[in-house]
Formats: sequence, structure tokens, C-alpha cells
Amino acid sequence: MGRKFFVGGNWKCNGTTEEVKKIVSMLNGAEVPSGDIVEVVVSPPFVFLPLVKNSLRPEFHVAAQNCWVKKGGAFTGEVSAEMLVNLEIPWVILGHSERRLILNEANEFVGEKVAYALSQGLKVIACIGETLEQRESGSTMDVVAAQTKAIAALVSNWANVVLAYEPVWAIGTGKVATPAQAQEVHCELRKWLKANVSDEVAATTRIIYGGSVNGGNCKELAGQPDVDGFLVGGASLKPEFVDILKSATVKSA
Ligand code: 13P
Repeated sequence: MGRKFFVGGNWKCNGTTEEVKKIVSMLNGAEVPSGDIVEVVVSPPFVFLPLVKNSLRPEFHVAAQNCWVKKGGAFTGEVSAEMLVNLEIPWVILGHSERRLILNEANEFVGEKVAYALSQGLKVIACIGETLEQRESGSTMDVVAAQTKAIAALVSNWANVVLAYEPVWAIGTGKVATPAQAQEVHCELRKWLKANVSDEVAATTRIIYGGSVNGGNCKELAGQPDVDGFLVGGASLKPEFVDILKSATVKSA
């Protein structure tokens, strides 16, 4: 099936020039599995993208954390997909729960963003995930299926999409999903893709997990058959990110 392990580091709204340089130099000096074992993408804030892109080891790539929903123009404060392409930024994270919940990005809006970014040639890490309330009420699958459906409605080619399942209750809380909880949702998402998109998309799309992943819990999560990698927040700013990259070898062991 050839789903290469994928690890994204989402730096969120963190860092000074000095701190960014430190993280880059840590990553550049790290011994990590080769590029055919793990695909590595780090996502600094917009303002640091050129610095990171120009100083990071070439086999690691960069992602923006967001982009505008359509062609640029009179949209103060926004950054367009065209600009990212112009700067040769290959990836963008879209639909992160922090944007869905704090900035009220609706499922349809995220779907439009994903479709537009893909149409411009960007690769997309599309985030989905339920809140604690939704999990406790038993609607996890309905929620993530609706989020995925809004993307699938506008996207026909999934080759450049990585789906990031990030339960909101696990983000930044230290309360990681158990390997069984992650596997269950990833497996259901793959079934959803099979039933609603195609067998091929279900078999080949990377579904990565995010939410309190760290150097200690990554291996067991990586061992789950439908967990194809991680989207890491807090730990991506620290040396333990390298341990998370190394967990990719669990798949090839
Ligand atoms: P934490 O790893 O800090 O929980 O964040 C996860 C996340 O939101 C990645 O996008």
C-alpha cells in the first residue's frame, strides 16, 4: 500500500528568531531514519517560513499553518496559497481545531480551503477531530465523518492530502488518545474513505494522529496499523521530536 510514515511538527504561534534557529540546528544535526522511511514536515509561523526553508536540511520540508480560502486580493491579514507557492512552500496545514473552534472555521470553509490550496499545487495536511463533549456523547465518528465529507465533496484527487486526526481533548492537554482509541477512529476513517471516495484513496491516504504525542508514547501509537504518522505540537519544539521521527522504524521493523 506504500503509505510512507509522515511526521509533521506544528510549531503553532511560538518562537523567536533565536529559538527558531536553535530548533533548526537541532533538526539539522539529528540522526533520523532515511527519507524512504519517514517524511518530515515542520510548520513554523508564516514569518519564519523563509528562514526555516532556507536553513533546514533539504530532505525535511516546511508547511504553512493556514492560507486564504481563494485567490489573494483585498483580504487584510491573510496569506494566499499563491504566495506560498511563490515562496516554494510545499505544504499547508488547514482546518486545525484551533482555527475551527477559536476562529469559527466551518467544515465547508475548511473544505473550500483544502480544494483551493490543492488546485494551486500545495500539499495539504487537513485536520479533523472531535471535542470532549462530542466524544462523551458518542458522536465522534459523526463529527469526523462530517468534517471529512466537507473536504471530499470538493476534492477529487487525494494524492496530495494527509488527513490528521486530532481529538481536541488530546491537544495540548497531555491526555493522549490510547493506541486503541486512535486506531479505532483511524480505521473508521479509512472505512469512510472506502465507502465514500474509493478503495484506492482509502488504501493510500495517510491518516496521522495528533494530540499530546511525545517521545514516550509515540512508539506504541506508531505500531497501530492505521496510524500512518503524527502531527506533533508541543513536542515538535523540543529535542524529543527526533525520538518521534525515529518511531517510524516501528513500521519497517
Ligand atoms: P500537542 O502535541 O501540543 O498536543 O498539539 C497537537 C496539535 O495540535 C498538532 O497540530
